[in-house]
Amino acid sequence: MLKGALLFMAPLPEHRDPLVYPSPQAFRPQRWRAGEPAPRQYEFIPFGLGPRRCLGAEFADLQVRTTLSLMLERGLPGLVRPRVDYGMVNGVTAGPQHPVPVHVDRPKWTVLTGSVTAVWKPAA
Ligand code: HEM
Repeated sequence: MLKGALLFMAPLPEHRDPLVYPSPQAFRPQRWRAGEPAPRQYEFIPFGLGPRRCLGAEFADLQVRTTLSLMLERGLPGLVRPRVDYGMVNGVTAGPQHPVPVHVDRPKWTVLTGSVTAVWKPAA
């Protein structure tokens, strides 16, 4: 590599590499169970790497876990529409291109739209 060259990491294709994640498009949370083959250091890079790694990584991780557990308390959400359009959002990051409506069965309370606020403040 040339000195001064600009190098970009691409987490999206890295996280879909079938050599690292067999059937990468399949939703298989059990991949992350202890004892399952784990990705190596440079194969899971949602927060970047090295000295400029995301400063909020631990906070973000806690926030995601808290939000998920609040959602699960209300029952396992199911997709209202089976298709989720996934792609570049804001020209920076990847994610659902539109709100993802889900239904929950216990108790019947509201439709989440992907907003964290909706989870923290469920409709009465
Ligand atoms: C799921 C949520 C998040 C993801 C996926 C994420 C991802 C990233 C990535 C990929 C970088 C670039 C790292 C690099 O250059 O190698 C970054 C940088 C950064 N993130 Fe996050 N981030 C998240 C949430 C947050 C939160 C909640 C905060 C603050 C409370 C935060 C603060 C920062 C800061 C300050 C930087 C710049 C670090 C630097 O340049 O030294 N991030 N983040």
